[in-house]
Amino acid sequence: MKLNLALSAIALLSQALLPEGHLFSSCTDGSSGGKVDNLLIVRADKASLTTSEKLAISTYSGYLARTSPQLALVTKPEDLAWLNTISETTTDSNNLDDVLSKIPCDKCTYVLCEIGSNSTSAGISFASASKDPVIVATSDEVVTVLEAHGITMNMNLTDTFDDAFWALDQSDLDFSNHLSIIQNVNNPVPLSDLSVKCGALNWWGEGDCEKDPQLPSLPARALNLLTPGDSVVLGWGGGDDPEWDCVHASTSYGSFGMIATDQAINAGVLNIDAESVGLTPQKRKPAAPQDPDESPKHTISFVMSDGDNVQWILNDWSAETGNNGWWSSEDRGKVKMGWTLSPSLGSLAPTVLKAILDGATENDQIIAGPSGAAYAFVNDFPDDATFDAFSAETSYLMDMAGMKIVNVLNDEGWAESTKNLLEQDNIDGVFLYEYNGYSELEGAISFVNNKPVVGGRFNLWSPNFYNVTTLVTALAELPNLTDITSSDGYTVIPVHAWSHNVTDIVEAAQLLEEDGRFDIVLPEELLRRVAENVIQ
Ligand SMILES: *[C@@H]1O[C@H](CO)[C@@H](O)[C@H](O)[C@H]1NC(C)=O
Ligand SMILES: *[C@@H]1O[C@H](CO)[C@@H](O)[C@H](O)[C@H]1NC(C)=O
Ligand SMILES: *[C@@H]1O[C@H](CO)[C@@H](O)[C@H](O)[C@H]1NC(C)=O
Ligand SMILES: *[C@@H]1O[C@H](CO)[C@@H](O)[C@H](O)[C@H]1NC(C)=O
Ligand SMILES: *[C@@H]1O[C@H](CO)[C@@H](O)[C@H](O)[C@H]1NC(C)=O
Repeated sequence: MKLNLALSAIALLSQALLPEGHLFSSCTDGSSGGKVDNLLIVRADKASLTTSEKLAISTYSGYLARTSPQLALVTKPEDLAWLNTISETTTDSNNLDDVLSKIPCDKCTYVLCEIGSNSTSAGISFASASKDPVIVATSDEVVTVLEAHGITMNMNLTDTFDDAFWALDQSDLDFSNHLSIIQNVNNPVPLSDLSVKCGALNWWGEGDCEKDPQLPSLPARALNLLTPGDSVVLGWGGGDDPEWDCVHASTSYGSFGMIATDQAINAGVLNIDAESVGLTPQKRKPAAPQDPDESPKHTISFVMSDGDNVQWILNDWSAETGNNGWWSSEDRGKVKMGWTLSPSLGSLAPTVLKAILDGATENDQIIAGPSGAAYAFVNDFPDDATFDAFSAETSYLMDMAGMKIVNVLNDEGWAESTKNLLEQDNIDGVFLYEYNGYSELEGAISFVNNKPVVGGRFNLWSPNFYNVTTLVTALAELPNLTDITSSDGYTVIPVHAWSHNVTDIVEAAQLLEEDGRFDIVLPEELLRRVAENVIQ
């Protein structure tokens, strides 16, 4: 009796030590620590592996990562670069057979399903909800390898191909209330490791996230599993406008929103304990005060878009291979500019965030968003309590990265609707865009809680809005452009990542310099000048 009491006290204590309520804190059993001693890496970039073989490896990798990452998959050079940030020693492998020889699995069983059908989601979900290791098998070749290692079939789910609800209908399967994963059944490898690690439901409807005409209640049932104010959705949806539909649906059901990760390989492996990583907040150089004899200038900040897109960040955004125009551009560092970046990286892949922060030049400044802990339309939260929880988590994650500004994308919601975020001490201001066309606010500035909310003025976005030439002309023609006491004196320029790059910003900056009336600064410096000079 006494012994039992002591044991349960220990169990309670160790639970209390877990960072409760933060993104992904529910995914580990508490023993999962920081960097990894040795990682077995399957080189799918060198050996040719089928999707089925990769899925089997990835689901096993997710199970192992519940305790500590041991196994990962490399499909392209960037995957390896990120894996090297969590483990200095790696061993290469070429196939599932070798993996099971090097990391044998006595307790493993497999679930049989068919790739590209509902049974893929059913199988991954079954493996997620199982306490014991379950490998997802979708081909005869994989089954042969598994059986050669003594791994037997647990469940045959191939006949769930026409039932998107199978996992939801099993009352004995418990899924995470903190994470939901929307993933195309034709691309099941990304996020399968994270699903299994975190016990998340993995689901996919043919149509829109919110109102699939075929499956009206699938998103509703899946998203209703989530605890409002303590959950997040990963992956990406289908349908005509997956961005609006999925962000709107995940926000309005009360999760923190959506993190675009549908091509993210090894998310469950990179998801190690943030505190062990020693994140170093961004370098900051105090801005030189403006020379009082100089005539006042129009202050401009360029902000590269789409940092919410974590699958892109983990893929070619920062590819070391060449000059791709974004973070790996040869021109990065030549001009002061801002970059949006999902602060969720601090929790999802902390060593990746550290590598990005360490690689920033003094002319790069990373701001959070859109729109915070995850991509949410903050005016779509169901209630204030949910928005407060989102704001607190956003603040916690921004603090890890030393971010001070949050870029909010709203669903036609104006400055006042960002209030809860601006109640957080470490959030100094908001750059506010509207979902439809970013710069709908045309540079308007408001003060909420005495902190600036600055609307984008002109988008560097072709062909829909401005290109370098038309942007510079439009700026030069602004009325009262050196009036530093009003919004007329300031411009935030959203740079559309899919049509413009760092080189274009450098070119625009040169033209603006020749004009002589403009000063290009980091986002925080623009915000500081606004707070200091603009009459409220
Ligand atoms: C799995 O189920 C399908 C459909 O019911 C069936 O055709 C197949 O033979 C089963 N496979 C095994 C290995 O039991
Ligand atoms: C999944 O099942 C639903 C019915 O629940 C069906 O309408 C849909 O076509 C199926 N999807 C696939 C990819 O087979
Ligand atoms: C940058 O964008 C411009 C077009 O706006 C394009 O001509 C150029 O090739 C791009 N540079 C890189 C490195 O992608
Ligand atoms: C910029 O846009 C203008 C107006 O649409 C167009 O005439 C011009 O050719 C464009 N410049 C470049 C470099 O694409
Ligand atoms: C320029 O500023 C003056 C006063 O500061 C104001 O009356 C006028 O409306 C402004 N012009 C425009 C086009 O905003």
